[in-house]
Amino acid sequence: MARQRAAAGTQEANISRQRNFWNARAQSWDHGAGNNPGLVKVVERVIAEAQPSAGMTVIDIGCGSGQLTLRVAPLVERIVGVDISKAMIDLLEHNAAEAGLTNVEGIAMALEHLEIEAASVDLVISNYVLHHLRDRDKAAAVVAAARWLKPGGRLVIGDMMFGRGANARDREIISSKVTLMLRKGPAGWWRIAKNASRYLLRFQERPVAISAWVEMFRAAGLVEVVAIPVVNEASVVRGTRTGAESHVQRQSPAGT
Ligand SMILES: C[S@@+](CC[C@H](N)C(=O)[O-])C[C@H]1O[C@@H](n2cnc3c(N)ncnc32)[C@H](O)[C@@H]1O
Repeated sequence: MARQRAAAGTQEANISRQRNFWNARAQSWDHGAGNNPGLVKVVERVIAEAQPSAGMTVIDIGCGSGQLTLRVAPLVERIVGVDISKAMIDLLEHNAAEAGLTNVEGIAMALEHLEIEAASVDLVISNYVLHHLRDRDKAAAVVAAARWLKPGGRLVIGDMMFGRGANARDREIISSKVTLMLRKGPAGWWRIAKNASRYLLRFQERPVAISAWVEMFRAAGLVEVVAIPVVNEASVVRGTRTGAESHVQRQSPAGT
């Protein structure tokens, strides 16, 4: 039992759990995510903070079936969507082909195993993914993404960002989630029990507070770090790799 518990906490155990979970849920996420107004708002905010533009090479980590990738693809040169779930990548490729997009590439791989050449991309973006990683893997992902960025490139992460009740914002978010589920009757009570085990045991969902994200960005050497609360549980954090003026400034016509 103790050995089982220890194994459940390893990186490989988490990768295999996430892969199975999302392979089974890929179709329903593909159908439902576009109709979730909260999720759409976070996607839009990630794009606003990322400022994608022509000529850019972009990586979307945990791309799912393309909720962010397909919105960004028409604005940039090339976008690579990486996801642990092969079923999600198959849907991404299908959705990109349906939309007539030819600059989208899918990679089915755990982010923890992803190797990208240093200083080779303009933007790294992500939406509602990193709370599935163990805390040390979140920090490692931020360090890796910062390394992939060209000087002046941006990392922009949208995700559920709250702790386990240490401050007033956390308590407000948790209590509003519980109230919402209580209103749904017995089905909601079941979800409270299920989510309590997911959050408290930190098996499937492992969100951390905005302040923890800001610290991770700064520890990875990113500058101009900004955190923006977007909807109740979710926020966007962005940072810039040092070494040059920001990519936004670089694109301004001379003299403006
Ligand atoms: C909540 S969905 C979000 C999908 C999409 N980004 C969106 O905005 O709708 C989480 C996604 O993260 C992926 N994921 C979870 N853990 C991952 C990991 N370690 N590496 C890469 N992708 C992962 C899942 O397969 C799933 O597609």
